[in-house]
Amino acid sequence: MRVHTAMTTLALAAVFVAWPAGAQDGDLARGQEVYDRWCASCHGFDGAGEGPAAAYMLPRPRDFTGGLYQIRTTTGGELPTDDDILHVIDEGMPGTTMPGWQDQLSRADRRALVAYLKSFYPGFETFGAPEPVSIGRAGRASEDRLAEGRMFYDSIECWQCHGGLGRGDGSSGPTLEDDWGYPIRAADLTQNWRFSGGGSVEDIYRRILTGMDGTPMPAHADLIDAGFMDEEQLWSVAHYVRSLSPERVPRVREVVRVERREPGEVPSTVHDERWEDVDSFYIPLVAQIIIEPRWFDPSVNTVWVQGIHDGEELALRLSWSDRTRSPDPEWSDFQARVIDVMEPKEGDPVEPGPLPDGITLQFPTNIPDGTERPYFLMGDSRNPVYLWQWRSDQEGVEAATAQGMREIQPLSGRTIDVDAHWEDGLWQVVLRAPFTAEDPRNEVEFEVGRPIPIAFYAWDGDHGEEGTRGSIGSWYFIHLEEETPAAVYVAPLVAGLFTVGLGLFVIARAQRRERLSSEANGHEEVSTTTTA
Ligand code: HEC
Ligand code: HEC
Repeated sequence: MRVHTAMTTLALAAVFVAWPAGAQDGDLARGQEVYDRWCASCHGFDGAGEGPAAAYMLPRPRDFTGGLYQIRTTTGGELPTDDDILHVIDEGMPGTTMPGWQDQLSRADRRALVAYLKSFYPGFETFGAPEPVSIGRAGRASEDRLAEGRMFYDSIECWQCHGGLGRGDGSSGPTLEDDWGYPIRAADLTQNWRFSGGGSVEDIYRRILTGMDGTPMPAHADLIDAGFMDEEQLWSVAHYVRSLSPERVPRVREVVRVERREPGEVPSTVHDERWEDVDSFYIPLVAQIIIEPRWFDPSVNTVWVQGIHDGEELALRLSWSDRTRSPDPEWSDFQARVIDVMEPKEGDPVEPGPLPDGITLQFPTNIPDGTERPYFLMGDSRNPVYLWQWRSDQEGVEAATAQGMREIQPLSGRTIDVDAHWEDGLWQVVLRAPFTAEDPRNEVEFEVGRPIPIAFYAWDGDHGEEGTRGSIGSWYFIHLEEETPAAVYVAPLVAGLFTVGLGLFVIARAQRRERLSSEANGHEEVSTTTTA
């Protein structure tokens, strides 16, 4: 399969003599300059993927010296074209730490980088420029095609790795590793916006046809060559995979609308059909890398939230992809391998062992006026928070108050009903509670018409997550709909304007905040990105 690597050993000597015949020296010098500045911290000055930041990452940054590239328009086992490499540099690899550089570096610099990356692997010189595979046309995704695609998904056994409904929960999961021996997870096919090579049906087709070299994701071109299926049928598989994700990349909306229903119509179970026509809100989560021990490889990256209330009680249904129902003994070895390579570089060493999945909802103890909210990592001594903590190894939900990540006190307050269900790589949890508090000093009181801050944390036990090692989100608002919808939207809109953005932005702020917090132990000023 791996033509170029197999032949390389023989060709190496010859290449070294001839090097660098094909590359332009100017390009290479410029490429090196840009590379050393922007890429070496992850990929290493020598291109071997072992920069100083690499040990905090899974997947690890690419080792360029072996010539293995995942995102190609060329046949499996072949080198990529220059445009393929440029494409990855431009777009980055979603779902990994590999950033896109299109807006950061000039086109000339990005071209120079391509030349420089290729110089790490002499095979590019030896074997010359590979040709892209022609892939024909996607055609339309009719019902029939999706059914055909599903049929082949089953018969080719994509589910072995990706699971029956595509959430990456297949039975081979615990054994998967990349060519460098690092544990790797099969992609969650319901999140195409996180595919490293792009989420369009054409991107998906190429990945299935030519595979992702260096990973267990196989090429399937041989099935066409062997007459097991034709190109049209492989396109059907690509359409089917595409259909598992939403039509559009989900949009972050800062305000989660909790719909109003008639008294007594608040569901308490996961499978209640009243959830079916309730709007679902996308909450992205990111790695907790602020408080030590930090965690750079979070497993849960999205929570979907729905809400219903009746003026006296509210219920939230949370849904998120999680490959396993932790703790699952089948995954204990995988967990140990993840902990081994991701072990926090600070604090006490982490011992592998059974850990549950979990999700925590955080509310301010008192609904703040204006734009202030407690520190989003479990509050602080001046501004405590009120928590609902759910774990897969316990009945019910544990309420608590917190004044920081390490200052969490259990609380007996209002009764919170819970129903939880895991199936096919999906957790669904319903939490239902009355508006009024038993212990109003420590518990938030829900109020119709008033935006209430809410934040989420999640843990995947079989991925080695617990405590500060998990996924976090910034503050959002839940808004309990009033009777007359017209007046409702002003308040949440205003609130939304003040909401902290996500991802690196949150983290940058939080790190600054972390530095400041030892001096002043006050409120977190809410950033006004959208109004600045
Ligand atoms: C923050 C760390 C980080 C930085 C900085 C970074 N990369 Fe990466 N890069 C990665 C990781 C991680 C991967 C591997 C992702 C995977 O295997 O899924 C990767 C993969 C790649 C790949 C392989 C693409 C493929 O098809 O397999 C290329 C090419 C690449 N990076 C180029 C660059 C260049 C050029 C720069 C600098 C302009 C750069 N990277 C900076 C983390 C980084
Ligand atoms: C042996 C296990 C295995 C099998 C079988 C397998 N995959 Fe994968 N697949 C993976 C892994 C692992 C990844 C993630 C690679 C990565 O993240 O770098 C992946 C990634 C993907 C992706 C995401 C591509 C991207 O750009 O990130 C798609 C789409 C996909 N697979 C579809 C399929 C389909 C369709 C089939 C069946 C025809 C299939 N896979 C069979 C292991 C497998």
